[in-house]
Amino acid sequence: MKIFLDTAIVTDIEDRMPTGIIKGVTTNPTLIRRSGEDPDVVYEEIINAGITDLSIEVKGDDAETLVANGILYNSKYGDKATIKLPCTVEGIKACKTLSILKIKTNMTLIFSVSQAILCALAGATYVSPFVGRLDQIGEDGIGLISQIATTFCIHDCKTQILAASLRSAQSAADAYEAGAHICTVPVEVFDDMSTHVLTDKGLAQ
Ligand code: E4P
Repeated sequence: MKIFLDTAIVTDIEDRMPTGIIKGVTTNPTLIRRSGEDPDVVYEEIINAGITDLSIEVKGDDAETLVANGILYNSKYGDKATIKLPCTVEGIKACKTLSILKIKTNMTLIFSVSQAILCALAGATYVSPFVGRLDQIGEDGIGLISQIATTFCIHDCKTQILAASLRSAQSAADAYEAGAHICTVPVEVFDDMSTHVLTDKGLAQ
């Protein structure tokens, strides 16, 4: 069981590193844009903050470009870079090639068990089901985690489930209970996970 931070704000990561429990960081183009920094500067700073598993989303309309960009980040950061690819046909092709090259991959934008299965067959290190976005359209994000976990367990699959798009401390707890190996959480959710009103009350007493 591991926890990652879902952010591209380096100071937010640095502030929470002393907890000693953060095992990775996930980024995406929206988070990078929000940071207002150049993507490559952000990646460099996150690695320098001591993160040893950083998901870097690569650009490309075809598998060849995705692979080339993945190789580039792998040659720069080695095993600390996990190449984040979309769950599309081109993304799956790229995942297969990178997995043969022993480069770690995080397959993102997963919304169904069948997508997770194909990514696992392509040798993905992680699959990222998006819990919050499914819940937002009235579907069951945690239910999806549970279905993928059951399927992977039956088939003794090595691909790990990285629950993403988590919007609350409770949904992170639910994702772990449903079988997620890793939860990636925004810093606000990370902070909420350590607090409880009765803890504060107990301290006051
Ligand atoms: C993580 O890898 C994802 O990019 C992220 O959790 C997406 O979250 P959102 O649905 O809040 O954008």
